[in-house]
Amino acid sequence: MSLPPGFLDELKSRTSLAQVVGRKVTWDQRKSNQGKGDLWSPCPFHQEKTASFHVDDRKGFYYCFGCHAKGDLFSFVRETENVGFMEAVEILAREAGMQMPARDPKAQEKADRRTQLAEVMEQAVSFFRLQLKTGGAARARDYLAGRGLEQSVLDRWEIGFAPPGWQNLWDHLAGKGVDEELILAAGLAKASTKGKKPYDTFRDRIMFPIRDARGRAIAFGGRAMDPDDSAKYLNSPETELFDKGRSLYNHGPAREASGARPLIVAEGYMDVIALSEAGFPATVAPLGTAVTEDQLQLLWRMHDEPIIALDGDKAGLRAAMRVIDLALPLLEAGKALRFCLMPEGQDPDDLIKAQGPGAMQKLIDQSIPLVQLLWRRETEGKNFDSPERKAALDRELRDAIMKLRDPSLRRHYGEEVNRLRRTLFDGARTQQKTKWQPRGARGARFDVAKPTVETKASSLAATNAAFDEQLKEAVILATLVTHPNLIEDFEADLERLETTQAAHETVRRALIGAQTRSRDEIERVCGADALEKLFQPRHVRISPGVRNVEDAEMAAMSVAEELAKLAARRGARSEIEDAARDIHGLADEGLTWRLRQASEGLAEAGKARQGDKTEYDLGANGARMNRDEKRDFEALIERIDYSKGGRGERS
Ligand code: UTP
Ligand code: MN
Repeated sequence: MSLPPGFLDELKSRTSLAQVVGRKVTWDQRKSNQGKGDLWSPCPFHQEKTASFHVDDRKGFYYCFGCHAKGDLFSFVRETENVGFMEAVEILAREAGMQMPARDPKAQEKADRRTQLAEVMEQAVSFFRLQLKTGGAARARDYLAGRGLEQSVLDRWEIGFAPPGWQNLWDHLAGKGVDEELILAAGLAKASTKGKKPYDTFRDRIMFPIRDARGRAIAFGGRAMDPDDSAKYLNSPETELFDKGRSLYNHGPAREASGARPLIVAEGYMDVIALSEAGFPATVAPLGTAVTEDQLQLLWRMHDEPIIALDGDKAGLRAAMRVIDLALPLLEAGKALRFCLMPEGQDPDDLIKAQGPGAMQKLIDQSIPLVQLLWRRETEGKNFDSPERKAALDRELRDAIMKLRDPSLRRHYGEEVNRLRRTLFDGARTQQKTKWQPRGARGARFDVAKPTVETKASSLAATNAAFDEQLKEAVILATLVTHPNLIEDFEADLERLETTQAAHETVRRALIGAQTRSRDEIERVCGADALEKLFQPRHVRISPGVRNVEDAEMAAMSVAEELAKLAARRGARSEIEDAARDIHGLADEGLTWRLRQASEGLAEAGKARQGDKTEYDLGANGARMNRDEKRDFEALIERIDYSKGGRGERS
């Protein structure tokens, strides 16, 4: 639908972002300044206790300093109500008392059609539920009772029964005047060949309605009672309503319940029901297919760290492993996964039945982060008693870590994997050695790795990098001097900030110590000299937060961005220093790889720079590196490769 010119502007001017957001959050009164339209709250898009979500009501923008969610009125409604743009506009227009222009007939038709299909599905839900109460459904009721599902549970989950026979639902719906084409399009019946009547998709099955996040019936899962049936579960085919890969069983209720509770991803309908009934209402399941990327994104909208609790059998484990590969490129800070390992041969439904909710809770508490399952996958049951095998392991791990797109995450994965790796190999080595090596022979083994890499590493890294870090510090401090009312938000960062210059340190302390938080006050505390030094570099004077005295939002973003970059740079440097220390004391085959990681992380972050300069892409890879720095890192890696006899790969 096209909107008349000016419609959105009019809508924006009639609507207060603060008011719309205010329905979803509780403002932090201490931090907010209502009068100025400057509002802070805990972020509605990720879990947190502090108020890092900022709304600038006058500009109509929001930004979260924690998860970097940002946008305007429309994106806020889209995200929080899970609707499309036009629907968001409609919602807001209705509230603002504005008449929506007539829909474009095509879109209207499509929306109408979906509504019609959903209505047909709704009629099918009622039909199946009613059937479960009839005399013909005694066996189905027995089956459900045998599985421990009480009437209240059947009602809550709207469980029904598709009777045996070929046209029960068909005749029922057609008899009520439902358009035959709609019954077919809803996937409830299939056209028959040879001009016979279409036949019901679901026959002699227990029926589980599947609803979308907003509660519309979009599909069914049908379970056969007969263990010999060729398909234990039959799901609705994909239809205009049902996109398997983008739907989750129990999506709506789980979304309501998640947040403080862990979000669990189980394999089957019965698991979801058992878990929910046992006090884990934030549970969903994919719909008869492997977990898809879209589903992972849906999960991360509900929770930062969903727990995958697939069945404790080979298939379940294989599915979990597939989830690892799928998730690696998508992971970011605040988008993680854990895995709950079910006992051999059990699914959550079995476990809860056998041992109760407490046992499930215990397993959930023991769920492991993705990196650990990855490690297990690559190492469990394998033997690494030869260099070739170790190298093969390194390759596997490296390939997995290279799938991570987020540089800082890559580094942390590298670290964690290295730690695990060292425990594995060193542990083995130490044990071996105590058997056959004389005391004192130990140090000699590592002589190959003795060159003075340590000094080279630190001096090389120190040259350009130090200067760049100084500038970043200066930009951060100068921006805060220019916008003293931001100091409070960055107080913790200021306290952590390591300065490299005396003048910077003076300013940093003045910022933390200042009472009134005005520029004059800061200048009084730290002296004009220090400020002059601080603002001297051109780079500092032209930085967006310093140049735009009026734009506090931009200044805040600029500070957050520089802090992130600084952290990434310093992190990468300490990685190199760590690695250099390692090589000095220990022949660590992972060294080259780790350095390359550090370098690649920065290089990747560097790419972001070539993009739109005014756009503050603070995604977790807020870090950036210039060409000189990259060259330094590469030079460093080359040398270390060389010092190790050219062993490192140059992929
Ligand atoms: P399971 O066989 O683990 O199902 O399949 P379950 O939920 O534990 O079933 P019960 O407890 O035996 O009744 C997990 C999911 O895989 C899909 C269904 O979505 C099911 O819930 N599935 C399974 C199918 O689509 N078709 C099948 O034949 C089997
Ligand atoms: Mn199962």
